[in-house]
Amino acid sequence: MRIAVTRRIQSDVLASLRERCDVRLWDSDLPPSARELLTLLHGVDGALTLLTDRVDDELLARVPTLRAVSNLAVGYDNFDVPACTRRGVAACTTPDVLTRTTAEFAMALIFAVARQIVPAARAAREGDWKTWYPMRFLGRDLAGATLGIVGLGRIGRELAGMGAAFGLVVIYADEFSSDANYERVALPELLERADVVSLHVPLTPTTRGLIDADALQRMRPDALLINTSRGPVVATTDLVAALEAGWLGGVGLDVTDPEPLPAEHPLYSFERVTIVPHIASATVATRQRMSELAAQNLIAALTGGVPPHCLNPEVLQRA
Ligand code: GLV
Repeated sequence: MRIAVTRRIQSDVLASLRERCDVRLWDSDLPPSARELLTLLHGVDGALTLLTDRVDDELLARVPTLRAVSNLAVGYDNFDVPACTRRGVAACTTPDVLTRTTAEFAMALIFAVARQIVPAARAAREGDWKTWYPMRFLGRDLAGATLGIVGLGRIGRELAGMGAAFGLVVIYADEFSSDANYERVALPELLERADVVSLHVPLTPTTRGLIDADALQRMRPDALLINTSRGPVVATTDLVAALEAGWLGGVGLDVTDPEPLPAEHPLYSFERVTIVPHIASATVATRQRMSELAAQNLIAALTGGVPPHCLNPEVLQRA
């Protein structure tokens, strides 16, 4: 079996893949370009991919040997799943193993933005700490505040539990999932009521640009916006315009559009915006579990087994 692994991953996982397959590794910290990806995948049976690798119909057409792609991520907007299914390619992901870690990070961003931790830490580090200031870096309390969760999937639900434990009043908007422990509202009402809006929807044609100028305008002028889902769920230019107009009390972004966000991007100019480079699932243990699961998915899909998380299992039945 020949497989490609599109980035350096945990060495023990790589070693176990090498025991079973002929592995072609993209041995770099940076992703392959579309052309480099095509070359890397030429003739392989399967690929362990990252969310930065676009697996679309064009690539699938040019790699007819491919039978499985396994994303090292729960999100799979980099996959054209219908095209994979049409071409008999199993498409796999890594849910569950990162749920708690990602929700913890969303909570961390909420605290960081609510209490201005990043600007305050920067001031201290830069020597801008002259005394105890009675009126500087005043944040806001979270107990009693309303946390609006957009998307009550695995991660949204985990955050709901954490938010409630911290004394936030949790409301959520989700057309497909419900939970009697929390109040379900329509998105416009959530945006109007929440002190903190946290996004937990996958990126789909419906959710692309969900938080646009109109949605931002509905939010409370001092509300916090937290995004640990996918960058394009927020319309970046609308967000910049809202911030320029003095709207929103703070923003925490683990994901942006574009990604990576170039150093000169206007979003960095706002002190009340905290941006980190897509690290919500980045703990040692969780990334290990994600790698193991991605490898397990791939091997199972290629050897007639049952991958733990396959998006199009009908492909396996056909094989
Ligand atoms: C990370 O963003 C993931 O989808 O796992």
